Amino acid sequence: MNKQKGQDSKSEFTESGEQFSKLGFIFAAIGSAVGLGNLWKFPYITGKFGGGAFFVMFILCLIVIALPVFIAELAIGRGGRGNASSSFFKLSGSKFWERSGFIGVLAAFLILTFYSVVAGWTLYYAVQSFSGSLFSGGDYNDQFNAFTSSAAPVFWQFVTLAICLFVILKGVSSGIEKFNKILIPGLVIVLILLMVQALRLPGAGAGVEFFLKPDFSKITARSMLEAMGLAFFSMSLGMGAMITFGSYVQKGQSLGAASLAVGGGNLIYALIAGLIIFPTTFAFGIEPAQGPGLVFIVLPAAFSAMPFGSLFGGLFFVLLAMGALTSAVSLLEVPTAYVKSRWSLSRQKAAIYTTIACFVLGVPAALSVGGVWSDIHIFGKNIFDMIDYVASNILLPIAGLVSTIFVGYVWKKAGDEAGLTGFWFKIWMILLRYVSPILILLIFLYSTGIMH
Ligand code: PHE
Repeated sequence: MNKQKGQDSKSEFTESGEQFSKLGFIFAAIGSAVGLGNLWKFPYITGKFGGGAFFVMFILCLIVIALPVFIAELAIGRGGRGNASSSFFKLSGSKFWERSGFIGVLAAFLILTFYSVVAGWTLYYAVQSFSGSLFSGGDYNDQFNAFTSSAAPVFWQFVTLAICLFVILKGVSSGIEKFNKILIPGLVIVLILLMVQALRLPGAGAGVEFFLKPDFSKITARSMLEAMGLAFFSMSLGMGAMITFGSYVQKGQSLGAASLAVGGGNLIYALIAGLIIFPTTFAFGIEPAQGPGLVFIVLPAAFSAMPFGSLFGGLFFVLLAMGALTSAVSLLEVPTAYVKSRWSLSRQKAAIYTTIACFVLGVPAALSVGGVWSDIHIFGKNIFDMIDYVASNILLPIAGLVSTIFVGYVWKKAGDEAGLTGFWFKIWMILLRYVSPILILLIFLYSTGIMH
């Protein structure tokens, strides 16, 4: 149990380098939040559900449900100083809650198996784009299908996981923190460059208008649930990621302030992503409501038609890859931290075993999107979609509910850990007790098809 006074958990963590600096944590959390969710999912879902009105709902969902749960997950991690499962036990002494926390660990592991596939695609597209071969003619749909039906995605997934492993092996402060401190500023520069370029395209104005001028008649119950789910995913909630990161946050850091910074950073990133994608699609007369293929099939066509297209296209995919890698690192850390403490292994061993397991399960996922295993169907879905479905639509909302209910009803000292008192504490509790659980439950019922 507790060591002597003065030798608190803080010094334990500092010794092994298992602690973020204050700024380092903000970078790492932004790195986790900003990812394929913002640049790949957000634009096509926004396009599909009506542009500006959807964006307004996304912002509301970020504030009303994602932010309170974000603070709650960080508090669980920092209060429990354990992994995404053991932290619950340390705070409550209950095996039930420990097992419930494990759902998030499982979600992170499963999500990484296919997230690393898509991250691998972005790496491949970045290379192809810079080398010019992406634009050497041919139909982009065919190119995408030819690539995903070959074995190449397995190689690129391997590269992705190897990079993540390399970062995780170096530990929290000299690995995860450092990696994000280098990549996030790089990402911001590329993001702004591409935005300026997109806004200067002739006809860009129509895209800006579509994205930022809300038409509230387009709001439906379905689009509201989509916005909530996306806000949740985009803030890396329901996967143990913020609980795990929370355990590396210094005691003196304000969780509320950090959460606002991360939420704000994530929102600005989504805003700029929209200001790249919608002006580009509108300038080239492309429908933004294209679905998942938007960035891999539709955007290359736009880049190929603009001056210095292979440069800008290459930069775009580098941006996508950087966002994906920083998120994938945070996903890998969740099961790694679990395996490490569950079986008392070194960080190195835990990270290697977890990565291998993820790769083994990830290969079928990589080969099932048009590849040799695309004919295997489970409940009518290919392996990739099935893992996505189970992790994103079932495990993620359940893990989100676990955090919300635990902080709202079970753990009495959560307010102290989060540093919230008085008015803000009351608001936080109301949101966590009554608002978030109901909304998360609705997302769950809707995304599993129990409710239409
Ligand atoms: N937030 C990431 C994105 O938007 C996805 C993610 C979820 C990463 C959970 C880590 C943990 O792409």
